[in-house]
Amino acid sequence: MPRVYLETFGCQMNELDSELVAGRLAQLGYTMTREPDGADVMLYNTCSVREQAEQKVWSRLGELKKTKKGKPELVVGVLGCMAERDGADLMKRMPVVDIMCGPGELDKLPELLDNAVRTRASLLGSESVNLAALQGNTSRRSGTLAAAEDQLELLDLSRTVSPVDTDASHRSAYVRITRGCNKFCTYCVVPFTRGAEIHRPPEHIVEECKRLADAGVVEVTLLGQTVNHYRFEHGASVSVGGVTQPQKGRTYKGSHHRDAFAGQSVTTFADLLHLIHEKVPTIQRLRFVTSYPRDFGNDVLEVIRDSPRICRYLHVPAQSGSDTVLKRMNRGYTVGEYLEFLDRARQFLDQPEIGRPLMLSGDIIVGFPGETDEDYEGTVDLLEKSRYKNCFIFKYSPRPGTVAYDKIPDTVPDPIKRERNNHLLAVQKRIGEALGREQVGQTFDVLVEGLSQKQLKASGLSQGARKPRTIEVTIGGSAVATAPIVDEAEHVEGPVQVTGRSDGDLIIHFEARDAAEAKSLIGRIVPVEVVSASGLSLGGRLLPG
Ligand code: SAH
Ligand code: SF4
Ligand code: F3S
Repeated sequence: MPRVYLETFGCQMNELDSELVAGRLAQLGYTMTREPDGADVMLYNTCSVREQAEQKVWSRLGELKKTKKGKPELVVGVLGCMAERDGADLMKRMPVVDIMCGPGELDKLPELLDNAVRTRASLLGSESVNLAALQGNTSRRSGTLAAAEDQLELLDLSRTVSPVDTDASHRSAYVRITRGCNKFCTYCVVPFTRGAEIHRPPEHIVEECKRLADAGVVEVTLLGQTVNHYRFEHGASVSVGGVTQPQKGRTYKGSHHRDAFAGQSVTTFADLLHLIHEKVPTIQRLRFVTSYPRDFGNDVLEVIRDSPRICRYLHVPAQSGSDTVLKRMNRGYTVGEYLEFLDRARQFLDQPEIGRPLMLSGDIIVGFPGETDEDYEGTVDLLEKSRYKNCFIFKYSPRPGTVAYDKIPDTVPDPIKRERNNHLLAVQKRIGEALGREQVGQTFDVLVEGLSQKQLKASGLSQGARKPRTIEVTIGGSAVATAPIVDEAEHVEGPVQVTGRSDGDLIIHFEARDAAEAKSLIGRIVPVEVVSASGLSLGGRLLPG
């Protein structure tokens, strides 16, 4: 069977999609390979969110032109958001591409691939096979149609969870709860590439969490572009072939709409969190990204506060600290409202006295069209007040097809964007470091993920094993569990440095006595006292217990 190399760019949604696709292809008999050399099929799961993300893929495709000359039977596929956005133009510009498959059509990939592999074998020429599964402009279908036709749900349901996957990177898993986005922020391509917001049935989600937990997963991160908008109306659900279908999103009614436990007609986000927490207690850490700063009810905060296994961590992008810019971005909240939300979240959740301080992270776009010095100062001020543990800072990238691209001239010159970007990075670094120093003396429960980067380097271990999981641009949330297999370090003498994360997502390094102890710690949650903070890295000491 053909060997398939799959490389992922972009956000956690893409990482999960790649995992599901790889699992499905392996089930069908394809061999997934970590090495691009020698692969028969090269797949790129792509991102369109900024121009830079797309450029990486263009350059990969450029390189493949040569490879394909020497190996004409090679099948090249572009999956994900770039395929959806560029459509047929992509194939025209890059004839090396044989297949394209949008993120909403990944269930059709096996069929496309099978066709392409057979067709290429007979072609042996330079022309491409030209197969595509894209939603196109019809992606925002009516709710019922979207639900009834949602074969994509079967991809999530077919997820292969193998209990033999005991290495640390499988202790942590993503579970999708919502697809798509209904927000239409003026700069953003996601609503176009991922389509309308669609919520998965809660029973599917709980079932998936259970299967993952049974296979040894201890941490689940729920995924959605606006994850707190999750809402499933049971009365309205459709069943196709015995499978309850996901549901198109409706406008979230806000925090006072606590109608769920009465009669179970609606499962809200708060209900869903509670449900998973209660039904799957073997999941020791439950997290979710990305939260939208509006429509975040106290019901959700209460559930988090009252559930020991839900993490005290929120990723809530503000995007800007200026009301005029927020308005132009169509974000639907003011700086005041954003900061009020953080205050409310802190009131409910910030409990350093029990070792559970609330940790926040954010996203900011600098240089949005029309951003003045004053607007930018507002953003600096917002960062000072928000005190994120980390913040992803992006230079505005104009995206064809978005409202901002068409209607709001990109007035901020690149050198100014760059200057604001660098300045803001420095501001955030200072805040992050100060926050880190405040943690010295605190004890945290740390989920041990693997050897630290420093240990890897010191032991001369290759990062080769991690390569296929390497994400070119990590957007939002935190670093994924990319811990290498610790067996590689068995020959190392003496103490070994390992790394893990607190429930608030702080990264903490500490020493294990030796490689054997390190190995026994991986995937476990252990108490670690923070003893040092240098830069953004926290050093700790393993406590007995
Ligand atoms: N749904 C999430 C974000 C998804 S995209 C939310 O609304 O918070 C991830 C991040 O990429 C965004 O938070 C934003 O900061 C950034 N981003 C999106 N489009 C961008 C653009 N055109 N230029 C620069 N950054 C962008
Ligand atoms: Fe993009 Fe806005 Fe949707 Fe986030 S909420 S994915 S930034 S449109
Ligand atoms: Fe990129 Fe698509 Fe995710 S554009 S950020 S891969 S939803």
